[in-house]
Amino acid sequence: MSAVDEKAILGRFMLELGRLYQAYRMYPSGNPHVQTAADRCAECLREFQKPIRISRMGEEVVIENEVLSPVPKQLEKILEAFKAMQWDSVRFLPEIGVRGFLEVMLRLKEGEPGSFSTVGFVAGSINLDEEDEEEEKGLNAPTGYLTLMPRVQEMMSDIREGRKGAWVRAREITRLISGHVMAGQDIFSPIMELKDYDEYTFTHAMNVAALSIAVARRMDLPEGLVDAVAIGAICHDVGKEKIPLEVLHKPGRLSDEEREVINRHPVDGAAIIMNMKGEMSPIVPVIAFEHHMRVDGSGYPKLPVQSTPHPAAMLVAVSDTFDAIRTVRPYQPSAYTPAGAMSVLIKESRANRLHPVFVSVFARLTGVIVPGRHVKLSDGSRAVVLADGEYDALQPLIEIADGGEIMDLSMPRTPDIESVEDMLDE
Ligand SMILES: [Fe+2]
Ligand SMILES: [Fe+2]
Repeated sequence: MSAVDEKAILGRFMLELGRLYQAYRMYPSGNPHVQTAADRCAECLREFQKPIRISRMGEEVVIENEVLSPVPKQLEKILEAFKAMQWDSVRFLPEIGVRGFLEVMLRLKEGEPGSFSTVGFVAGSINLDEEDEEEEKGLNAPTGYLTLMPRVQEMMSDIREGRKGAWVRAREITRLISGHVMAGQDIFSPIMELKDYDEYTFTHAMNVAALSIAVARRMDLPEGLVDAVAIGAICHDVGKEKIPLEVLHKPGRLSDEEREVINRHPVDGAAIIMNMKGEMSPIVPVIAFEHHMRVDGSGYPKLPVQSTPHPAAMLVAVSDTFDAIRTVRPYQPSAYTPAGAMSVLIKESRANRLHPVFVSVFARLTGVIVPGRHVKLSDGSRAVVLADGEYDALQPLIEIADGGEIMDLSMPRTPDIESVEDMLDE
């Protein structure tokens, strides 16, 4: 079926679905108006030959990867009803038939919120994929962060190949990741699940998105900006597809030419993103382009005029650095512990390469600098943390080792934390 035909059927389906809802509210279910409307809806599904999905993401309504803008008048009422039922996503399957539509209408009339499924129809939270249905049937479907991986892979190939609807998918995926970030108390719990999984490109993209979402939320950034940061984070390395695998996975030192090939990925990534169709925040390609640029002007790509990277790119740079050094790679045989990785971030922040505000928020989220933790200070002394820093996680109350002075590191003329020592069990 051509894209034009599909669009025509979807248009008809929306019209008929709106009519059915209106008819059902006015007449009893046996009334010919209701029956005819249900029959027409069922016919659209049979013709479409595959499921039709309608989802709500924030204020936007998406039908089959296409944002409905503006929302057709005739759909408004039924969409309000879906919202009242807490159905973020509904899926009509080809086998639904007249009976299925009438059952959906009845359910809407009863108005009891929560997930619902019947022959040819599933409604509930945004994550309505095959695994969910299995789960509802009581089969042992895998759950958790790792199960998002195939969808991330699919989305990345959509972006690389410039397929339509890729942004809608990206938004869905980042919202699912976001759900995991909020559900877990500890920001490490979702990313630990992927630690032993070897598809680095995808696990790294997901982890950087999860960490960046956590930082953005902690900073109370507006929801739209959190979304843009999340999508930028998940796509930040999309330009790496142009790097030959033997260069990308090469253990040991890279030649100057190889390094040059690798350093092109932010430029290539931004170009891939800019060539995509569909609406997307302008921050997304900027994040891809600038995630290796540093606050002090070092890093790459080099521009003729030096400028400070966009704050969203500086935020993602912190998550990117953290996840990269926490992972075992061919050129990095052992990964850093959380304290070791935090120490690297602190060093980069003190050298004005990573932005200190994002590093500080990160330090708070990782919970590495807490009472009992041993740290090394910039004056060379060692100390133990007594209490969390109130305004800055990197400026706690400390006691210099061996019964020395007690110091509030947020006060002027006190040293900085230079590194964090491992606990015995790390
Ligand atoms: Fe990168
Ligand atoms: Fe990266």
